[in-house]
Amino acid sequence: MCGIIGYIGNKNAVEITIEGLKKLEYRGYDSAGIATLINGKIHTVKCKGKIKKLEALIDEKLKRTKIAIGHTRWATHGKPSNENAHPHCSGGIALVHNGIIENYAELKKELKDNGYKFISETDTEVIVHLIKKYRDKMPLEEAVRTAVSQLKGSYALVIMDEQEPEKIIGVRMESPLVVGVLEDEKFIASDVPAFLNYCSRVIFLEDGEMAILKKNEIKIYDLKGEEREKKPISITWTASMAEKGGFKHFMIKEIYEQPRAIADTIRGRVLPDGSKINYEEWGLTKNELSLIKKIYLVACGTSYHACLIGKYMIEKIAGIPVEVDIASEFRYREVPFEKDSLLIAITQSGETADTLAALRYAKKSGIKTLTICNVLGSTASREADAVFYTHSGPEIGVASTKAFTSQIVALYIFAFACSITRKNTSHMIHKKFLKELFLLPRMAEEVLKLDDKIQQLAKELYRKPNFLYLGRGLNYPVALEGALKLKEISYIHAEGYAAGEMKHGPIALVEEGFPVIFIVSDDPYLEKTLSNIEEIKARDGFIITFSSSKRDKLKKLSDRFIYVEGLNSYLNTVLFSIPLQLLAYHVALLRGCDVDQPRNLAKSVTVE
Ligand code: G6P
Repeated sequence: MCGIIGYIGNKNAVEITIEGLKKLEYRGYDSAGIATLINGKIHTVKCKGKIKKLEALIDEKLKRTKIAIGHTRWATHGKPSNENAHPHCSGGIALVHNGIIENYAELKKELKDNGYKFISETDTEVIVHLIKKYRDKMPLEEAVRTAVSQLKGSYALVIMDEQEPEKIIGVRMESPLVVGVLEDEKFIASDVPAFLNYCSRVIFLEDGEMAILKKNEIKIYDLKGEEREKKPISITWTASMAEKGGFKHFMIKEIYEQPRAIADTIRGRVLPDGSKINYEEWGLTKNELSLIKKIYLVACGTSYHACLIGKYMIEKIAGIPVEVDIASEFRYREVPFEKDSLLIAITQSGETADTLAALRYAKKSGIKTLTICNVLGSTASREADAVFYTHSGPEIGVASTKAFTSQIVALYIFAFACSITRKNTSHMIHKKFLKELFLLPRMAEEVLKLDDKIQQLAKELYRKPNFLYLGRGLNYPVALEGALKLKEISYIHAEGYAAGEMKHGPIALVEEGFPVIFIVSDDPYLEKTLSNIEEIKARDGFIITFSSSKRDKLKKLSDRFIYVEGLNSYLNTVLFSIPLQLLAYHVALLRGCDVDQPRNLAKSVTVE
């Protein structure tokens, strides 16, 4: 996820672009750059680091230009560096990109064979060379259309060309782009706040649309070149509302981003028909995967809960024994590592001190390491032998939401990759489960529709001082994470427990009205969990059930029942986590808590 902007008009284009990038910095901030035209020639300034660093590099001559494009990066291919920062250029064309090009490796090979030189490690540079290749034979618009017809993946592109200096071109496919329309100036950006201080009349582009921006004209086309009639609409948000995409907090925005984040984690990793996983990209060979005898999963906080879910998945799907550890414990434990083991460090930030220490401990002991990580170029991703990036985009809210569900998806793919190399399950079964993964983003969207219902539930519950979350099997870690979410942002005491363990202690807490949240899949554990629910009922506890089963008895025993339409029980961990995040969010709001920056917590814990 990156932020992009373009401007053409009579004002100082570079200044407007830099200002816009600052408003888009929440979308990514590991490097930034701009391109403009000076004496008819493309001129770029880019650097690793935040926009402030870029701003310091802008000199006077750059402040007199009337056309510019800019980019703030959240690295997906190629570490944060000056070379990998956008814009990327080829033969007088400059381009910025947000998204992921899945077939960039094939295209890159073809272009290299045709003599194109690459100076970055990005997937983006492929696009600009491709456009240049066609622009030598046809007008820019046509060249862009021809080039994008060869791209697989997601992209929002903003392009300028010194041969056609009177225009900026924008194209959208599964990554947002919005055009700002004034009489004699035009803007284009990933998000409205980039230009909202200047312009509130906007056209949102749809997938497969191309916008041609000239100072006095705006035209929208489809990718066949047919013009589309689109009228600007006026927006009424304030700048700060717009930065969060109209949401009140980053946390709720990120909860709602989950369908997209999950799709980005899957993108390019699994073929849509479920027939193949591209595990080579992580840096592990088929042979290495097939030889793993034992897996250690280590992490902190929410990522530790993803590890617990991972254990159930890997053991069941791939048949490999898994040990799970809290990183701060693991680093001081005398681990009798077994030969042919793999340690997987799960970390959103890639910077958590204890997780890094656990990773280094394993490496020192001669154990192969993999990290499942969200931040490209982070310490974990540099130090681990192999990396599986979750690609869920920057997570700003301190309480992890979309990074967690993306970690689960990554573990699901990893478990099947191990299983495939072991050939211990039939190809048909692999295919069936991997195909189901592609339904998850849409199912997550459906679950988000429960938001109003959950808000009502929060109103009934927010004054309760204690909560118990219970689940069995894969839903046990989901219960732990649900309780952690509530505790973190609402400061209510909440505990997660394995439902079967409830009788060994927590049941002592239960009295009339004590809220107990059950997470129940339609699986072989159902009957057992029903008995636990009966036990709470017998003590007058207040039972709230989130379930993918509509069993009558379950509904009857529950004081509040929320049906969550499910897939298989592995993927249901994602679908159950979403309403629990929503519940924590609404309860915290009703209690007047600062949900994005809860007291005493930090997004990235870089000390022991
Ligand atoms: C902090 C954050 C949590 C996060 C944990 C691990 O405690 O508040 O949300 O789960 O660190 O972070 P990591 O970046 O390693 O996943």
